[in-house]
Amino acid sequence: MMSCLWMCLSLLYLLQHSVSSDQAVSLICPKNLEVTYGETVTVNCSIEWKSNTNCIGTEFFWGSQDDRIECKNASTKYICDWDRRSYVFLNIFEVNNNTSVFVEIGSDCGLDVSPFITVNVSGELLSASKSLFSVQL
Ligand SMILES: *[C@@H]1O[C@H](CO)[C@@H](O)[C@H](O)[C@H]1NC(C)=O
Ligand SMILES: *[C@@H]1O[C@H](CO)[C@@H](O)[C@H](O)[C@H]1NC(C)=O
Ligand SMILES: *[C@@H]1O[C@H](CO)[C@@H](O)[C@H](O)[C@H]1NC(C)=O
Ligand SMILES: *[C@@H]1O[C@H](CO)[C@@H](O)[C@H](O)[C@H]1NC(C)=O
Ligand SMILES: *[C@@H]1O[C@H](CO)[C@@H](O)[C@H](O)[C@H]1NC(C)=O
Repeated sequence: MMSCLWMCLSLLYLLQHSVSSDQAVSLICPKNLEVTYGETVTVNCSIEWKSNTNCIGTEFFWGSQDDRIECKNASTKYICDWDRRSYVFLNIFEVNNNTSVFVEIGSDCGLDVSPFITVNVSGELLSASKSLFSVQL
């Protein structure tokens, strides 16, 4: 019983891995990005199709650790779009914290989810003191 459990689990693991390396569509994303505090970052993932057939993306969404990211209409914080075929991107404006995002796409040939992409914010102290400085001026 016990050994079947382990064998079955390993088999499942192997199956999932071969399935995922076999999938029709893959997202190629940066692992992490650096951005200066208060600046805009663009997270741009390319879409690769296993066989160059006429697959077309049908839907996508971006998410963070916490939630789905609303970026498809006039948000002041996020903008996202894609060409349904070769890339999908997310702009984050005025980045003020370290965060992680991921993207999921669906197509008429299958779907894929990216791993988390970390966005590292640097220079918070610098830009805080800069704005203090300009207030004093
Ligand atoms: C983000 O910060 C962590 C901790 O300092 C560091 O290990 C990691 O390499 C950083 N990532 C980037 C893209 O700089
Ligand atoms: C994302 O990358 C694609 C291909 O490299 C490029 O055509 C597209 O303009 C980029 N989009 C943004 C917003 O950078
Ligand atoms: C943007 O779209 C989402 C759903 O996609 C909706 O919940 C939200 O109210 C919309 N925001 C604006 C400003 O239209
Ligand atoms: C982001 O993480 C880095 C390293 O982990 C840290 O030095 C930096 O202060 C953090 N920035 C913010 C805005 O939390
Ligand atoms: C980072 O900032 C965004 C927008 O201000 C917010 O939605 C998100 O919850 C923050 N994440 C963390 C880990 O504080």
